[in-house]
Amino acid sequence: MTQKIIILDFGSQTTQLIGRRVRELDTFCEIMPYNKFPKDDPSVIGVILSGSPYSVHDPEAFKVDLLQFVGRVPVLGICYGAQFISHTLGGKVEKADSREYGRANLETVDTTNPLFKGFEQHSQVWMSHGDTITSIPEGFEVIGSTKDVKNAAFWRDGVWAVQFHPEVFHTLQGTQLLKNFVVDICGSKQEWSAASFVDSTVAELKAQLGDDRVILGLSGGVDSSVAAVLLNKAIGNRLTCIFVDHGMLRKNEFQQVMEDYKVLGLNVIGVDASAKFFADLAGVTDPEQKRKIIGRDFVEVFNAEAKKITDAKWLAQGTIYPDRIESLNITGKVIKSHHNVGGLPKEMHLQLCEPLQWLFKDEVRRVGRQLGMPEHLITRHPFPGPGLAVRILGDITPEKVRILQDADDIYIRGLRDYKVKLSGEEARKVLAAGIPADMKDGEIEVSLYDQIWQAGAILLSTVRSVGVMGDERTYEHPVALRAVTSTDAMTADWAHLPYDFMAKVSNEIINKVRGVNRVCYDISSKPPATIEWE
Ligand code: XMP
Repeated sequence: MTQKIIILDFGSQTTQLIGRRVRELDTFCEIMPYNKFPKDDPSVIGVILSGSPYSVHDPEAFKVDLLQFVGRVPVLGICYGAQFISHTLGGKVEKADSREYGRANLETVDTTNPLFKGFEQHSQVWMSHGDTITSIPEGFEVIGSTKDVKNAAFWRDGVWAVQFHPEVFHTLQGTQLLKNFVVDICGSKQEWSAASFVDSTVAELKAQLGDDRVILGLSGGVDSSVAAVLLNKAIGNRLTCIFVDHGMLRKNEFQQVMEDYKVLGLNVIGVDASAKFFADLAGVTDPEQKRKIIGRDFVEVFNAEAKKITDAKWLAQGTIYPDRIESLNITGKVIKSHHNVGGLPKEMHLQLCEPLQWLFKDEVRRVGRQLGMPEHLITRHPFPGPGLAVRILGDITPEKVRILQDADDIYIRGLRDYKVKLSGEEARKVLAAGIPADMKDGEIEVSLYDQIWQAGAILLSTVRSVGVMGDERTYEHPVALRAVTSTDAMTADWAHLPYDFMAKVSNEIINKVRGVNRVCYDISSKPPATIEWE
C-alpha cells in the first residue's frame, strides 16, 4: 500500500505548492477539498491543513471536524490551518494590527522539537496573513516566534501549527520543516519515485484494462506522449493512438513526431486533415471563431477515426494533476478551462482512462525519462491545441503558415543551440527541475530552450511596414517573438533573452524568411497579457 499524506485544501493559492514539496520528498500526497477527508483510508500517514483566503471569523469560512484525524495521525496546520486549529481548540485569533506580509526571522526556535530539527536560529520565514493568533489553546506550547508574531509556531503531541508558509521559496528552511514532518514525524518511507510509479501503474493498467482495446489522442506534447508509452508498456498494441495533423503544427513536426512514435513502438494512426482545416478557416479572422472551428473539426476528424476501431472500450487521455485540481477548485473560480478531446460519439460508450492523473508536470517528465523516452520529446515546450492558428493575427492561409513555420523554426533552433553557463542557486533550480546537465567546475551548461517555459513566433499578418532589402523597398509583415518563464502557465514573465541571441535570430529571420521584414520581442507578462496572442 502506498503511504500518503492528505493535504486538505482550504482554498489557498499555495496549496498545490505544498503538494509539490511533499512529492519532492518522494512521498505520495493527495490534495483534497477541506471537507472530503478520506476517513477510512489506512494508507494516510499524516494530514496538512492549507492556508485560505478566508478569516476563521468569516461566516462562510471553511470548517472541518478535526476529530476525524487529530489523535489518529500527525497533523500540521499552515497559516489558516494553524489559525483554524487554534480557534477550534480554544485559542484566540484576532485581526492583526497590520497585515503580516513578507519576510520575517524566527527570533526564537525550539530546535529540540522534531518539527524544527536542524533549524538555525533567526531562520528566515515567509508570512502572509491578515489575522494573528493572540493566544494558543490550552495544552499547546510555543516553539517558534518572530519579532512581531509571538505564536508563530506551536504544538502539542500529534498536532503542529505554523503561521508562516514552509512551502514557499522565501522560507529558507521550509523544505527541512516539511521533511521533518513528513519523514520523521509521519514516518514516510520515501518510496514514491518515477520507477515505483511506472511499476505500480503498469500493474494497475493491466488489471483495469484486461484484454480491452484503448484509443488515445496524441498531440506530440509531453503529457499525451508519456501516457501513450505507459499504456503501451501495459497493453502493447491493444492501444491505438490517433495523431491529427491540422496543418498548423510547427515546421516538419508531424513527420518528426510520427517518426519518434514509431521508434517508441507505438501503434499510431497519423491523419493529415490539413486541407479540411484550411478550407473551414478560410477568411476567418476572429480568434474565438478560429478556436471554435478548429475544436469542431478536430472532434469530427478524431471521431471518424475512432469509430473505425469498433471494439474500443476506453478513451485514454494525458490529463495531469494540476488540470484536475483546477477543475475541483473549491473556491469555484475556474482560471483555465481544461482542454481535452471531448465530444466523443456517445454510441461508442467509452470509459475514461487517465494514467497520469496524479502527477505534476515535472513528475510526468521524470516518468518519461524512466520509460526511456528521448529527451527532446520530454523537454518539449507546451504548444496550444489550435497550433499556429492562434499565432497568426488575421485570416489563415497555407502561405502564412509557411512563413510563420520558417520564422518559428529559426527561433526555436536558435534557443536550442544557444548554451548558457549557470552556477549556484540558478544551477540548482535547473537540476532540481530534472533537466539533465553535467556539472563541471561548479558550473552547468544548459540551452536557453531548457531554461524557459515556452517560446514561439507570432505573425502579425494584419500589419505591414516599410523596409529596404538591397536596393529594393519592401512592404511586408512583422514577426513577434515570445518567450516566457513560468511554472504552471497561470502566470508568466517574459524571458530576459540575451541581446546577442536576439540580434542573431532577428538577422537570420529577416534574411531568410521571405515575407518578413521586421522582428519585435514581446515584453508583456501574464497577467495582464496572456501567453498566446489569440
Ligand atoms: P494563455 O494564452 O491562456 O495560455 O496564457 C496558457 C497556456 O495554455 C496553452 N494554450 C492552449 N493549450 N489548447 C491547448 O491545449 C488551447 O486551446 C490552448 N490555448 C492556450 C498556451 O500555449 C499556454 O501554454
